[in-house]
Amino acid sequence: MSFWKRTVREWDLAGKTVLLRADYNVPLDNGKITDDYRIQKSLPTIQFLLEQNCKVVICSHLGRPNGKPNPEFSLAPVAERLGELLKKDVAFALDCVGPIAEGAVGQLQNGQVLLLENLRFHPEEESNDDEFGKSLAKLAEVFVQDGFGVVHRAHASTSAVARHIPGIAGLLLEKEVDTITNVMDNPERPLVAIIGGSKISDKIEILNRFIDIADFVAVGGAMANTFLLAEGIDIGKSLAEPSEVSLAKDIIEKARKKSKEQRFVFYLPQDGVVAKSLDKNAHTRIVDWDAHVIATIENYPKNPDRKTGQVEDDELILDIGPFSGAFIAGGMQMANTVIWNGTMGVTETPSVHGPIGPFAHGTDIIVDAMLGEYGHKPFTVVGGGDTAGYVEQRKLVGSFNHVSTGGGASMELMSGKQLPGVEALWNKE
Ligand code: 3PG
Repeated sequence: MSFWKRTVREWDLAGKTVLLRADYNVPLDNGKITDDYRIQKSLPTIQFLLEQNCKVVICSHLGRPNGKPNPEFSLAPVAERLGELLKKDVAFALDCVGPIAEGAVGQLQNGQVLLLENLRFHPEEESNDDEFGKSLAKLAEVFVQDGFGVVHRAHASTSAVARHIPGIAGLLLEKEVDTITNVMDNPERPLVAIIGGSKISDKIEILNRFIDIADFVAVGGAMANTFLLAEGIDIGKSLAEPSEVSLAKDIIEKARKKSKEQRFVFYLPQDGVVAKSLDKNAHTRIVDWDAHVIATIENYPKNPDRKTGQVEDDELILDIGPFSGAFIAGGMQMANTVIWNGTMGVTETPSVHGPIGPFAHGTDIIVDAMLGEYGHKPFTVVGGGDTAGYVEQRKLVGSFNHVSTGGGASMELMSGKQLPGVEALWNKE
């Protein structure tokens, strides 16, 4: 089922000058792009527009330069990478509005591509200034929104611009919104939601929505620690939000109520990998707080006086443990759809041996389960942001059914919120 009435396919674009909003907010290290997933995903719409012999003028933001030009946040490296991927020259304009941008558009021929400098070098972009939107609109005849990652922001390039020229959806925006909306509204059941990451406060809406619609919700990552606190479990010096314990209790209560009324599982980790620091060489051990210490890895100093099954005061929970990983993976064997948002542990800590870091094994087990390593392969949707970053780093993007390019945008869409950048488009009858 499609959400859209008007996309690039339903509009006569032949030979037109098109302003394309992309989300090229890509990670950079010393001016080098470290992950070009968002650039790659923008190619189908650009190629589609080039096939219509359009003049393609692309705008985007990069980072948060606070409304001032700053070479650190220049889109110039993106123009270069885009040219490599498209296998054609991509012109670059040093400003996104005014004489510089207008001059560059004036020189553009049909079938050529121009990337404009960072929109956020102007404070009017983030304040959704109407005049700024008008200056952007002046560059083209049609506006195509394809920056799914930024449509949860009401900025001039996602909102005001579409008041001045017709605004329609690009192919990436269409695919993202349709896939996520369909999977939330009409999933093939059972639906499993795996939610990780660090803060409950960031994910409260999405958690509530999943408790409403999913058949099995599993929580991992540092966010699980606040739930464990709410359940009276010692978490040592683990990252948690003590101020959100009462919220966690409400969520647990809601989940318990649902599980009494129908078949529903809300799963909090029953064991974890703990260490005294995040260091890759830190000694780790596995604590099963439901029962007892089940394993000691490497040379963790043995203390005969220590209580079993307890995270010590100076320890941190840094990953879900093997029982928890196996339980969640088992749940996925019964799922037809899995939505995953947030890693289960500190996946950033590099590994000492092999590809998996010391606190990434829990995430790895659930990734294996999602990808059918244990026999059954459900339909898989991965929320953007850090989760997509992890999948990309493991070079597994192509193995999932959908890996979103949007972090905040995919979360807001999954939470059932309206997206200003979608509302601004001419997608209604
Ligand atoms: C993102 O990376 O989530 C988008 O590009 C939006 O960026 P922002 O959070 O700086 O608005």
